Amino acid sequence: MQIATHRTTQPKTMPDAGALGFGKHFADHMFLMDHSPESGWHSPRIAPHKPFLLDPANLTLHYGQSIFEGLKAFTRPDGSVYIFRLLDHMDRFVRSAERLGMPLFHPSDVAEAIEALVDIDRTWVPKQRGTALYIRPTLIAADNVLGVRPADHYLMYVICSPVGSYYSKGTAPTRIYVEETYSRASLGGLGEAKTAANYAASLLAAEESKAKGFDQVLWLDAKEHRFVEEVGTMNIFFVIDDILITPPLDGTILDGITRRTVIDLARQWHLHFQERPVTMDEVVEASRAGTLQEVFGSGTAATISPVGELNYKGEALVINERPNSIRQRMYDTITGIQYGEVPDTHNWLTRVEPHATTTNGNGHDYAPPEANEVGMMREKA
Ligand code: COI
Repeated sequence: MQIATHRTTQPKTMPDAGALGFGKHFADHMFLMDHSPESGWHSPRIAPHKPFLLDPANLTLHYGQSIFEGLKAFTRPDGSVYIFRLLDHMDRFVRSAERLGMPLFHPSDVAEAIEALVDIDRTWVPKQRGTALYIRPTLIAADNVLGVRPADHYLMYVICSPVGSYYSKGTAPTRIYVEETYSRASLGGLGEAKTAANYAASLLAAEESKAKGFDQVLWLDAKEHRFVEEVGTMNIFFVIDDILITPPLDGTILDGITRRTVIDLARQWHLHFQERPVTMDEVVEASRAGTLQEVFGSGTAATISPVGELNYKGEALVINERPNSIRQRMYDTITGIQYGEVPDTHNWLTRVEPHATTTNGNGHDYAPPEANEVGMMREKA
């Protein structure tokens, strides 16, 4: 793919690691690409990160036809940069596009664009352990129309944000409220797609649980509110009686890439592992019997995050994680691979090579439009 490149003339300064937080600061550049029925995907380009001009009738704003991904790049002490499970994220991006009735694309094309973008913004990959460059590919409808239908035109873009911990309290155990009133997703719905609607469905419950002093919500199945599904921004794992257990993917749960990583490692280590339905009754029983040894969440943003308490029907199920926990071993191994301290025997890392696209004047430069006008690029292309 020939990616036209327009570098910023006003580079910003990255904040100190301690001030990063999550998703608050943005790297200098972004990737953009348009889709039209006549030309398919076209005009791939890297440009300075800047606001869009959106028509108030933009279809995404009204009907939520939008999807996204979240993946991370890490710097090693020698300055080399690696992206974790890039193609797995791209495969899921395509599956989300399919579920939302959006045009498909080659995962490797977008992977290539992300490598070019991260290469240009490699100084934005923070160096401290516990930090990363969070990469947010996004695909939105670009039609300005109020009829309810999939759009004809689309904009794909990728932005990057240097991040620290997702939770303000870092890797300290979280307190989770088990949600029995609201539902996140139901069978046949959008649950496994990485789409804005799933997060919109979660916001009120998350706010109400925060007001009660909790960090996140644990979602149960929408029909009976008995079966465990996932936490707001993470998949969930239990260790009960030395068995690592996670609920199966039934279309309502996000097919987390970190979830998959935990399962891959559990199999590699020959842990006693089960992917099967888990009821809250079973979790309560295990807690009362003293066999609920660990609960942890997995996610790109949250990495591997210990759960210290599940609050269910007013009862606090407190989890006192044991030393040498599976959770700690998972965290150490996954972050060790990401930062290049543990061998990457699964080939999960993509090294971001310095490419010719990183310099202006390489023959691919283009005159940038005045603004990133969604739904207008097709006229300008
Ligand atoms: C991620 O872990 O990448 C997520 O997408 C969770 C959230 C920040 C939306």
